Amino acid sequence: MDPSAHARSFGAAAGAYARARPGYPADAVDFLVPPAARRVLDLGAGTGKFTAALAGRALDVVAVEPSEQMLAELTAALPGVPAHRGSAEATGLPDGCVDAVVVAQAWHWVDPARAVPEVARVLRPGGTLGLVWNLRDHEVPWVRDVWSVAQLRVEEEQAMEVEEPVVGPPFGPPERLVTGFEHVTDRAGILDLIASRSYVIVLPEDERAALLGEVAEVLDRHPDLRGRDEIRLPYRTWCVRTSL
Ligand SMILES: C[S@@+](CC[C@H](N)C(=O)[O-])C[C@H]1O[C@@H](n2cnc3c(N)ncnc32)[C@H](O)[C@@H]1O
Repeated sequence: MDPSAHARSFGAAAGAYARARPGYPADAVDFLVPPAARRVLDLGAGTGKFTAALAGRALDVVAVEPSEQMLAELTAALPGVPAHRGSAEATGLPDGCVDAVVVAQAWHWVDPARAVPEVARVLRPGGTLGLVWNLRDHEVPWVRDVWSVAQLRVEEEQAMEVEEPVVGPPFGPPERLVTGFEHVTDRAGILDLIASRSYVIVLPEDERAALLGEVAEVLDRHPDLRGRDEIRLPYRTWCVRTSL
């Protein structure tokens, strides 16, 4: 499978994405956005999960996202935030126009050779690039049991990207923070979560239905989950920040 097809796949599941994916914890936002920042770009903003956290802090936010369907969800949820189609490689924004750029759960989709100079161009001198990923905590047995059905291997590959994301000059050395939270959801939420993963979106319809059917069976049978109205899904949030 062409990796760029995965990167472009999200729009097809924009509704499930908006319903099911968690937001980001406050300590991650504190770490990624310097206190003096006023104008912040949410790059690869998707349906606006991180954008909402920025807008909630009364920052002057601009969102850039390549998928029209994801952008439509963002605009519906956050009508006051200016949002444009664009990518990390070509944001369409002027030089030096933002104090900070945040890329939430999306840096692994970009081409760093083109995205690093583009992000540096739109930042003012001394500006900050923040990267963040929410990854489920697979140390918890039921999480491992559910996601082993849904190709856990792909997640492990992503975890490796998170540990060593590529940025480099003109950005300085990366600083890191790992934090965590519990996402309160339910059976339908877990199914939407899996349906909004790029590697599930790109499956042929019959394979996707079979996979979601298998996950539903695990959810219905698992002793830690069956009959529960509320499911608390543990996440670890990996943050990296670096400045020009
Ligand atoms: C996992 S979603 C994350 C969305 C959002 N930032 C969030 O935290 O929920 C990944 C997003 O990256 C976008 N994306 C894919 N390739 C991109 C690129 N080259 N530049 C910017 N965004 C990209 C996708 O369209 C998708 O919306």
